[in-house]
Amino acid sequence: MSAKKAVEAEALSEAAAKRELSRLAKEIAKHDRLYYQHSAPEISDAAYDALRLRNRALEARFPELIRADSPSLRVGAPPAAGFAKVPHKKPMLSLDNAFDDDDLTEFLARIRRFLGLGVDEPIALMGEPKIDGLSATLRYEGGQLVQGATRGDGEVGEDVTENLKVVKDVPHALKGRDVPDVLEVRGEVYMTRADFDALNAERAHAGEAPFVNPRNTASGGLRQLDPALTEKRRLRFFAYAWGEASEKIGGHYADWLKRLEAYGFHVNPLAERCATLDDALALYRRIETRRATLPYEIDGVVFKVDRIDWQERLGFVGRAPRWAIAYKFPAEQATTTLNAISIQVGRTGALTPVAELEPIRVGGVTVSRATLHNEDEIARKDIRVGDTVIVQRAGDVIPQVVGVVLSKRPRVSKPYEFPKRCPECGSHAEREEGEAARRCTGGLVCPAQMKERLRHFVSRDAFDIEGLGERRIELFFNEKLIESPADIFSLEARNGRDFPALAEREGWDELSVSNLFAAIRARKKILLDRFIYALGIPHVGQVTAKQIARRYGSFDNWRRAMAAARDDSSEAYQELEAIAGIGPVLAQALVGFFAEPHNLDVLDQLARQLEIEDARAVTSASPVSGKTVVFTGTLVQMTRAEAKARAEALGAKVASSVSKKTDYVVAGTEAGSKLKEAEKLGVTVLSEAEWLTLIES
Ligand code: IVH
Repeated sequence: MSAKKAVEAEALSEAAAKRELSRLAKEIAKHDRLYYQHSAPEISDAAYDALRLRNRALEARFPELIRADSPSLRVGAPPAAGFAKVPHKKPMLSLDNAFDDDDLTEFLARIRRFLGLGVDEPIALMGEPKIDGLSATLRYEGGQLVQGATRGDGEVGEDVTENLKVVKDVPHALKGRDVPDVLEVRGEVYMTRADFDALNAERAHAGEAPFVNPRNTASGGLRQLDPALTEKRRLRFFAYAWGEASEKIGGHYADWLKRLEAYGFHVNPLAERCATLDDALALYRRIETRRATLPYEIDGVVFKVDRIDWQERLGFVGRAPRWAIAYKFPAEQATTTLNAISIQVGRTGALTPVAELEPIRVGGVTVSRATLHNEDEIARKDIRVGDTVIVQRAGDVIPQVVGVVLSKRPRVSKPYEFPKRCPECGSHAEREEGEAARRCTGGLVCPAQMKERLRHFVSRDAFDIEGLGERRIELFFNEKLIESPADIFSLEARNGRDFPALAEREGWDELSVSNLFAAIRARKKILLDRFIYALGIPHVGQVTAKQIARRYGSFDNWRRAMAAARDDSSEAYQELEAIAGIGPVLAQALVGFFAEPHNLDVLDQLARQLEIEDARAVTSASPVSGKTVVFTGTLVQMTRAEAKARAEALGAKVASSVSKKTDYVVAGTEAGSKLKEAEKLGVTVLSEAEWLTLIES
């Protein structure tokens, strides 16, 4: 079609071209939104490509008509990225940490030295809780919220405007008549403990795995492609900082907080002005005491120089301001009795010791189990059943046993002996050279491993079957209705034939059963990378699964290549190892998986029942395959990591320094020495946009 349309573009008048470019910009933006944000495209890829080609043809004919919002300037938002990138006008920074009073003292001394203040000159600080959430920036123009973004890497964030609009405390318009033309307000998106617990209760009811902590749940919630899903997480927002502003923000930070409130924001009610170091230390202690009972999670106190003119003079070092610091709380600890040590068997057969504790409250939650990591840890700390142990909960991680209170050790106790057999199947548990974990050798006969593999198979990032969460899969497994992944997809056919119909069971009816079967059927079509991840091959996480899928393209291709790779001198093996991020350990794990006949049976059964969708394969036809590329400067449309991953996925090699062997240097803004080097050596230099055009050609 392009030839014909191109001719038409030639024939078009300038006015007509202008009208059409405007229409195309709107239309393409609409389809981008449908595709990237709602995952619900209305037109075929070919029809979409035709729109873009038409747009390009017109722009080539009338370059002076290229619009600021031209779709060609926005190329390359890859589907996986989901959200458009937003370069921050002012970078979103992080904070340096203080861990004790001395650190805070030194923070003030440093400021004093930097500003050349006398020892007696007071430096007032504002202290406020450090909210355990994620930062976001809100842009208001003419008092109206026009854009909201995540922090991203600090330079470029993601456009999550629609999602931020459903965050309760985010005003859609600034209150008051006296508002700046442009104002970016920054702060923390978070979730209350109560909302988090309620959400998890709902999930438990639906048989879904619980979320780990409010922070991650808030972060995931803000990055949902559908704002309706964001809304369900009941997120909130505390405002504290500013980005770009059309009027100078001056005076004191304390007044700025008042101003934020007047605009309609929530600011943290515990924020307080501290005239001296002692005041600051006292505020820190006060907030720490209240930590466990606050309705949201915090992990420290942020102190900021109150005078904004001083903030400006102090500026930044690296990514953190000199005028602010986060005084972190120590991990919370408590002591309790170790009642027993139980052993969990993971899906790869690793035996993990778990401390069964007398329930104790640590950091606002009741802890009754904690990880003991592995055999060596227990021996090193000489942890014994019956001991009084110190339990620690740091931020959001799994509680840990950090040590034993020896003075409280019962008179009769003996060192813990780690089991040498799998508690689930009785097979020998062996430890390999250099491995921390002892592993069950039972493979596929070990029910624990089978069960764990099934759980992983249906988990959120794998098959994600609605109504078939961890609990149900465990139930079906225990009753032998589902013992291997393939059984999931034959459940409907076997229902009422090989076992009494599910609808007759307690807690089930015709509707819930037909919903379950519909959900299972809906997942018979699955993307190759999800499928690979779902198999639960040791060391193969989501990222690796994606890389494998991109490299091999189709399931059949992959299967063939893995069979060929059994011989580690084969080309197939070399190729496998050469995939970015796949080293010998991973390659061995993959080959090992395919060497096991049980696994091949499972694969064959699944392949018969499923439609495994091809990934976009990397072919040697890629215009950059085999080329060496160096990225330098700040990229706007993608992060450096993303640029690298994409280039590698297309078969290019990404190097960090420029040499004669370099094929392309992609220069973002503020490119420095590498750009000069490229020019000196005569290496082709591309702008970010040119690079994107090249890889998409
Ligand atoms: S001020 C330029 N205040 O902590 C200073 N940050 O570790 C900008 N945070 O990225 C940050 N509560 O996401 C500030 N009251 C608070 C905060 C806070 C939480 C987060 C913020 C920042 C991170 C740095």
